[in-house]
Amino acid sequence: SVLDQIQKFEEMFTVPASKLQEVTEHFVGELNKGLSKKGGNIPMIPGWVLEYPTGSEKGDYLAIDLGGTNLRVVLVKLGGNRDFDTTQSKYKLPDHMRTGSADALFSFIADSLKTFVDEEFPQGVTQALPLGFTFSYPASQDRINEGFLQRWTKGFDIDGVEGKDVVPMLQAQLQKRNIPIDVVALINDTTGTLVASMYTDPETRMGCIFGTGVNGAYYDVCSGVEKLQGRLPADITPDTPMAINCEYGSFDNELITLPRTKYDILVDKQSPRPGQQSFEKMTSGYYLGELLRLALVDLSQQGVIFKDQDMTKLEKPYVMDTSYPARIEEDPFENLEDTYDIFKNELGVETTGSERKLIRRLCELIGIRASRMSVCGIAAVCKKRGYKTAHIAADGSVFNKYPGFKERAAGGLRDIFGWEAKKNIEDYPIIIVAAEDGSGAGAAIIAALTQKRLAAGK
Ligand code: BG6
Ligand code: GLC
Repeated sequence: SVLDQIQKFEEMFTVPASKLQEVTEHFVGELNKGLSKKGGNIPMIPGWVLEYPTGSEKGDYLAIDLGGTNLRVVLVKLGGNRDFDTTQSKYKLPDHMRTGSADALFSFIADSLKTFVDEEFPQGVTQALPLGFTFSYPASQDRINEGFLQRWTKGFDIDGVEGKDVVPMLQAQLQKRNIPIDVVALINDTTGTLVASMYTDPETRMGCIFGTGVNGAYYDVCSGVEKLQGRLPADITPDTPMAINCEYGSFDNELITLPRTKYDILVDKQSPRPGQQSFEKMTSGYYLGELLRLALVDLSQQGVIFKDQDMTKLEKPYVMDTSYPARIEEDPFENLEDTYDIFKNELGVETTGSERKLIRRLCELIGIRASRMSVCGIAAVCKKRGYKTAHIAADGSVFNKYPGFKERAAGGLRDIFGWEAKKNIEDYPIIIVAAEDGSGAGAAIIAALTQKRLAAGK
């Protein structure tokens, strides 16, 4: 029956404190492995940001921020007093672009940039504008103004980019359009979030994204990055900081500790990159709606729900994005009338009251699991670095929009560290705070830091 099924899901998706602790322990070891010469599942990519922002960086910078759902073009004015102003245009990335051609993607970015520059600099541009490029995929670099895409994540699948440096691809499109721009730095969104938030709040210890993907960045010290020894510039000392983009969405691709359900296994199998981003596939926005859909389709096939309903729409992969479980969790009505409308109007399925109860509970379980599991990355970095207190700057659609995410995430950290309960989640020693205005600002600050290094002849 439907009630039995609710119980089954509860057993399947509930992750107790002991499991979170176990996952975190394994996570710490995997972070270390990623920094070693041998490497591991987690890429731990050095970002070549070799200083902390001081808050006094100044100047005007352009930034483009290619995240999971949007492309933002940003003009950042760094005030130099822990303050900045941004002017930005946001363009929704057309869905087909995730799987189109590299040419189409970089043309779209260059066109958006051109429109923006024409608007912001109507008198024309005489001197090349410095630009920071936030590219939110795993990209290896030996210096800050390059980025060799290791592999696409978050459902992107564009031929001819993996293994290549994306900076010249962008620059070629800019040149074609005669836009005088100098790509000074390529960064990850987590690194951007880290640096932008640290610019305004020195207590910041990590930048995290809970969005289409999940990931985090932090500062290590150069001597802590074993795989870099012998590849560092001459002026580096053992305790020179180095920003690390963990790319921990790929945590535990070996599947040693992740509590996967049959739906997680299915999501992975049907994705363009099976066996990759195992942690991300259980926790990030790109997959939450799909987990829900797969569970519902399974129950319908077993004859438990949606009897005699037309399943054509629901059978389409990824037809439910994360706004579905989010809206269902937000449904304020006892009879779940919003949920009724969503299924009826958008998915062509007529639901009964008990089916809606089941759907709602399933959304909660998926949402709770994602938020609790996703903080294992934060806990692991804090353990590794010995941070007893910290501000963790967070951004992304799940963090900003998914109901209850913040409280659930705080609860997960509390379970991992065994903290005493507090009334306000702001009172815990490690707190997740909303990041500063998108990672474009971080790209600008990093561009400024880079120019300073170059000017000093480093
Ligand atoms: C934005 C940041 O706010 O959040 C981007 O500026 C980041 O850099 C994005 O990639 C992540 O959110 P989502 O939900 O679009 O993946
Ligand atoms: C994916 C990307 C990573 C990014 C994260 C959040 O995990 O691989 O680079 O930081 O999504 O956007």
